[in-house]
Amino acid sequence: MKQTKRNVLAQWVRALSGVMLTLLAAGCSTQSGAEAQQDVLPNLRDVYAHDFRVGVAFSHGLLDSGDAAALALAGTQFNAFTPENDMKWANIHPKENAYNYGPADALMLFAEQHHMSVTGHTLVWHQESPNWIFEDAPGVPASRETVLLRLREHMRTVMGHYRGRIHGWDVVNEAISTKKDEWLRDSPWLKALGEDYVEQAFRLAREADPGAELYYNDYNLEQPVKREKAVRLIKRLQDRGVHIDGIGLQGHFTLKSVDTAEVAKTIETFAAMGLRVNISELDMSLYGYGDRDNRYPDGAPAELLAEQADQYAALFQVFLTHHDKLDRITFWGVHDGLSYANYMPVKDRPDYPLLFDRAGKPKPAFYAVVKR
Ligand code: G3I
Repeated sequence: MKQTKRNVLAQWVRALSGVMLTLLAAGCSTQSGAEAQQDVLPNLRDVYAHDFRVGVAFSHGLLDSGDAAALALAGTQFNAFTPENDMKWANIHPKENAYNYGPADALMLFAEQHHMSVTGHTLVWHQESPNWIFEDAPGVPASRETVLLRLREHMRTVMGHYRGRIHGWDVVNEAISTKKDEWLRDSPWLKALGEDYVEQAFRLAREADPGAELYYNDYNLEQPVKREKAVRLIKRLQDRGVHIDGIGLQGHFTLKSVDTAEVAKTIETFAAMGLRVNISELDMSLYGYGDRDNRYPDGAPAELLAEQADQYAALFQVFLTHHDKLDRITFWGVHDGLSYANYMPVKDRPDYPLLFDRAGKPKPAFYAVVKR
């Protein structure tokens, strides 16, 4: 078959970048330090520029942590950002009449300076929602009307503060129960407002910022039972004419439990319901769910990192196949040292779930992902 000049050129570029990647992976770069590597490393944001945004989450503490390698990676590798903690209710609105914008404002500035589109995280969640929202006085439950008014006020104020700068909001986070025979999770929101609290939250969010995209965000949605519950929830919203733009599949995977076929099916299921799909909190623990051992206190075994690279590559193949349905793939942390997996579910247990190691150096998983 006759090859066009463009094809030949493309083959050369691919071959050349393959050689560069191999050299880098083998540690043959003459440069030292993660920052210097930024000059030669491929960027996730560029590699996937025509497919979807590649995002990252971190908290304001990173900004003045002195971790220059992490900040360099954050600002060059990614073009989307989610504040990991600083927009959660307890942090941004700790008391009824006190808003604390400083930390989130600083993060917004960083994101804007580095051309990252921002996802607000999160408005309604069973965690990080202070008791005062649900009480008239300590131990005295507030009425449904009072709680709805407080939610309305919170959304109008916080979403209003960032209006025009936030691309979309995780409006409701993790409302689905993980218990087999329970639909919605037992949460203070469910108790205070009843089963239609998700609908109320989306309606109020739409009213507060009609220009922002609105998402439902949850984990383990690739597991069929939980996925079905989410389908029921979304369908109910849609049947009732509630505005919802997309769904966040968090993607907190564990090395031995990545099921790419179910991930693909989940993306297809929600896209078929008319939703945009985001992978909103991606990482891959070396530990299984419920595993509380501390097997790798001094570093991860090379064979596990190679397996992790394969699993990440397989996931990104699924993402690429479905790029028309996906807007954003966001990693939950810049590098392994900054992952919540080091303190949850087991405090101070080192884990290795991301693409960069603690020094900000690319891991095998990074090379697997940028290779495409
Ligand atoms: O207690 C830890 C301490 O052990 C640790 O050494 C230190 C490291 O900085 O942090 C300490 O405080 C924690 C804090 O965030 C740190 O940023 C809190 O205990 C902890 O409650 C809080 O954790 C956050 C958690 O949500 C709860 O808000 C995590 O950082 C954050 O990654 C996690 O993110 C959630 C998403 O919002 C929703 N989906 C699941 C995801 C992971 O749990």
